[in-house]
Amino acid sequence: MYFPVYRPRRFRRTENLRRMVRETSLRVDQLVYPLFVMPGKGVKNPVPSMPGVHQFSVDTLLKEVKSAAGLNIPAVLLFGLPSAKDEWGSEAHAESGAVQQATRAIKDRYPDLVVITDVCLCEYTSHGHCGLLKGKEVDNDATLEVLAKTALSHAQSGADLVAPSDMMDGRVGAIREALDESGLDQVGILAYSAKYCSGFYGPFRDAADSAPQFGDRRAYQMDMANSEEAMREVALDIEEGADMVMVKPALPYLDIIRRVKDEFDRPVAAYNVSGEYAMIKAAAANGWLDEQRVMMETLIAIRRAGADLILTYFAKDAAKVLRA
Ligand code: PBG
Repeated sequence: MYFPVYRPRRFRRTENLRRMVRETSLRVDQLVYPLFVMPGKGVKNPVPSMPGVHQFSVDTLLKEVKSAAGLNIPAVLLFGLPSAKDEWGSEAHAESGAVQQATRAIKDRYPDLVVITDVCLCEYTSHGHCGLLKGKEVDNDATLEVLAKTALSHAQSGADLVAPSDMMDGRVGAIREALDESGLDQVGILAYSAKYCSGFYGPFRDAADSAPQFGDRRAYQMDMANSEEAMREVALDIEEGADMVMVKPALPYLDIIRRVKDEFDRPVAAYNVSGEYAMIKAAAANGWLDEQRVMMETLIAIRRAGADLILTYFAKDAAKVLRA
């Protein structure tokens, strides 16, 4: 009869033994909390497909920011909804825009909280595409100018990092140049470098009212079947001046997170997107999954894959678990 000499189970026997050999940790320092801000006052609209997530006006947003800061979450990511949309997404770079106002208000009250702003046009354009149209196509180079203007207006409002999520070619370079020319060389760029064309963004498009009115985003976001291409995208963004790079979505793309972490020397962020959140919430609401357990398993898996930072709608819930 054979008996094993080395028995891996020895280190699984008690919690303290498991704790000693645990390889991956999740700290609150690694969480970024995404928030939706819109014009108005006293607004707190629940997003039906994302239980626990709301659209806020600046005044109610500040209360949410306070509770996040109280949980020691270091950073928020702001998405804006405009008062009116047009073909060119003009409100994206308006000084009176929701993101610009929210950034100033947050920085005024919580100067240490890191404010990251999402830079994209899809919430602001009447057609819902992430750039300016030429016919039925998104015009890459004409869009760069508007994105740079948008990023600049966020930076001038006090954003610490701007995060372009549009997937136009050359946008990181265009934004870096615009920031530097205005003396904003200390404002960083978190590039959505490997952003895939994904069905997991469904609930977000309700939250941000940003669904394309015709067609889809396949002509600018990445094909989900590609991995080599993600390495080229990351390399380009770093060349153009990205300070951090992102993989999005996270859970179905853990292999991409790992490759980016291994092949590049920049902090890697991963976006645990709306659909990943909604799946867990829906299953938990049906009693089919243990929400807290699956949330932590998901976030730690994303860390294990190599993410330094995680953008997640679970940020507050996870911070509470980590504090306990
Ligand atoms: C804007 C943008 C999207 C997300 C972040 N920025 C949506 C999209 O590309 O359609 C998705 C975030 C999420 O699903 O949580 N371009």
